[in-house]
Amino acid sequence: MRSAQGYSSADRRVARFVATHVRGLTESDYAVGDRARLNEIAAALPDVISLNEGDPDFTAAPAVVEAAVEALRAGRTHYSHGGVPDLREAIAQKHSQDNAMRVAPGQVVITNGAAEAVTAILQTVLEPGDEVLTTNPYYRGHFVAILTARGRPIFVDTHEESGWEADPDEIARRITPRTKVLLFTNPGNPSGAVYQRETLEAIVEIAERRDVLIVVDELYERYVIDGRAHVSIGSLTDEQGPVVTINGFSKGYCMTGWRLGWIVAPLWLLRPLARVRYSLSLSASTPNQWGAVAALSAAARPYYDDVYRAFQQRKDFFYNALTQMGLTQDFRPGGFVGMVDIRKTGRTSVEVCEAMLREARVYAWSATVYGSGGEGWLRVGLTKPLDVMRQIAGRLEGVVRRLV
Ligand SMILES: Cc1ncc(COP(=O)(O)O)c(C=O)c1O
Repeated sequence: MRSAQGYSSADRRVARFVATHVRGLTESDYAVGDRARLNEIAAALPDVISLNEGDPDFTAAPAVVEAAVEALRAGRTHYSHGGVPDLREAIAQKHSQDNAMRVAPGQVVITNGAAEAVTAILQTVLEPGDEVLTTNPYYRGHFVAILTARGRPIFVDTHEESGWEADPDEIARRITPRTKVLLFTNPGNPSGAVYQRETLEAIVEIAERRDVLIVVDELYERYVIDGRAHVSIGSLTDEQGPVVTINGFSKGYCMTGWRLGWIVAPLWLLRPLARVRYSLSLSASTPNQWGAVAALSAAARPYYDDVYRAFQQRKDFFYNALTQMGLTQDFRPGGFVGMVDIRKTGRTSVEVCEAMLREARVYAWSATVYGSGGEGWLRVGLTKPLDVMRQIAGRLEGVVRRLV
């Protein structure tokens, strides 16, 4: 963990920028002081179990590792500019099978993670000062990518009562002549929202009418296995439509360190995007992409289905355990990151976070770290095995019962 000192000086600069330039967001929304202070407390305590990580504790399927090693041995180690053709083809097929999208391999651009994908898109379409609508709470990586591309984040508040979806009417109200992009995650991070088809249809209609580009990040798509359906907003338009889909191998295929993501772009965006993509990093790791081809193959599917079931089991266990302790959880996140409702305690998120940390040595961010819309919630990443989740629940029992 970085020192509180190191955190605060870098973050203070961003916070000052935010307070000056971001409409509707204040320095305290960025929660700099809280975050640094909580990190400091955690660093001084022994044996803290953290629920903050969004990095799956599983590794890639054995077939994926074998395919990458084989590529290395075979000398498939050269540049692969837009991406290895076999991978672009496999991703196009995946979108047609799983996402009801018609995608040509040429629309698929391979990037160094979804992070680079978001950066590449924003840098392609934004002029300095252009507005990007995004949710509050928001995924911090997106927020930083907007600032880095010299954009202005404009927030659309989301609420548990409407499943943490961005309300299309609210989106429409926030559009100005400077609005270029609507950027959101589905399933949501940190919210865990799983967007309904009707909401997505309304969003596409607004985007087409008001000339706004939709950029959706679907990185947690694979973890919606509890009977709800993940609907890709890209399936509601065609290859000329205003939707860019971002996805990747980090979460759905347990490959965070492999640094592989992808963009499905409308045809008219491909040429300018290629230029920015080229300037950022030329190409993604070629042998790793051969591993990724195997990740999408039928051979790897049983391994990953076990992974998704394991995450679902943890999620059910943890949210049920909190409910049994008296901290009722009505909302269940779609992915393996999500929010925990602490409103019943009558305390602030930071107070509850600190109490859990000091009394139970369990560290779960106050969701205000992801924007003011996180007040009343904690944010968790369920990246610990079930036996550790049981240990966490055991530790939390006393403090949760005391607080509710
Ligand atoms: C919503 C979301 N998008 C993008 C990323 C970055 O992912 P990648 O490892 O593919 O760059 C993350 C990582 O936590 C994320 O949660």
